Amino acid sequence: MSYTDKMLRDDALKGKVIVVTGGGSGLGKAMTKYFLELGAQVAITSRDLEKLKTTANELETETGGKCLPLQCDVRHYEEVENMLQEVLKAFGKVDVLLNNAAGNFISPTERLSANAFDTVIDIVLKGTKNCTLAFGKHWIDTKQSATILNIVTTYAWTGSAYVVPSATAKAGVLAMTRSLAVEWAKYGIRSNAIAPGPFPTKGAWDRLLPGDLAEKFDMAKKVPLKRVGDHQELANLAAYLVSDFSAYINGDVITIDGGEWLKGAGQFNLLEAIPEELWDQLEMMIKAKKNK
Ligand code: HXC
Ligand code: NAP
Repeated sequence: MSYTDKMLRDDALKGKVIVVTGGGSGLGKAMTKYFLELGAQVAITSRDLEKLKTTANELETETGGKCLPLQCDVRHYEEVENMLQEVLKAFGKVDVLLNNAAGNFISPTERLSANAFDTVIDIVLKGTKNCTLAFGKHWIDTKQSATILNIVTTYAWTGSAYVVPSATAKAGVLAMTRSLAVEWAKYGIRSNAIAPGPFPTKGAWDRLLPGDLAEKFDMAKKVPLKRVGDHQELANLAAYLVSDFSAYINGDVITIDGGEWLKGAGQFNLLEAIPEELWDQLEMMIKAKKNK
């Protein structure tokens, strides 16, 4: 067995209808593919309908499942409401909302226009709010139990320089996840989040590591496990969290980053750079002090 293997049993998501925002590319596409393989029907949404259609065709051919492409800019509440109606028309119900759509780019904050800051906040925080509110109202009105899964980042709680709008928005999404986990549990609605570390995708890498930055800042080197993430291992976690196997998990954020954020946080983690032979000398020096 390997982390690139598929984890759940066949048909683990049979009968479920799942909406994946930003499902036409990157991690959204990888999660959608696995959901289809596990028997779910999936609607993928984003701004670019042609891209969505291409992805849906490709995934239907590969998996034999049903994938519905729907144009929807999550920044606009009416578009989200329309998207929900289209999903209900096609599938009759919806069980899972996966808030995966995001926008991001690197920049010193003082260089950002007010509109640039708003653009990221509007996609990530307002977009997640729009989808969560529209779907939540529907589920509560129709007394349907459901699951929300939000994709955040590890800097949702540490913050991060140079991606301040994204960090601000993801922190808000994390607060929303935990708040609604309590408030909407009485309606049978679970809310959880995944915080991925580096998982190479074109969308993230082109914007966060443009030009030769990808070579200069080898993301794998920042990870204690010395590698970046594989899309299937994220898809495995997401499938578990939207399945009924995780029915008692509510309000949690699961980090999947090979230990990356903790490596940046621990005060003495830099001592990893000390070679083995030097530890003998250091130990002698420390003990010598103690004996004085
Ligand atoms: C400064 C910038 C900028 C940049 C855009 N703007 N790019 N400012 N530096 N690099 C400014 C523009 O000048 C404009 O402000 C405002 O932002 C809106 O720009 P538009 O291009 O008109 O916006 P739009 O077409 O809506 O595109 C949104 C976007 C774009 C966020 C800018 O990058 C996008 O579509 N992203 C979607 C996919 C994505 O980002 N994926 C990565 C997610 S990765 P003015 O004032 O001029 O009008 C992720 C991973 C985190 O979240 C962790 C990784 C380890
Ligand atoms: P990606 O391929 O660029 O995915 C972002 C998706 O969001 C795109 O499909 C995009 O589609 C969609 N989107 C952007 N603006 C939208 C809008 N206004 N309305 C609807 N959809 C919109 O990048 P990714 O790496 O797969 O990212 C997926 C998620 O993982 C994001 O939440 C990201 O923050 C998170 N994440 C990624 C990493 C990583 O290492 N890759 C690490 C931590 C967290 P359109 O352009 O067609 O609209």
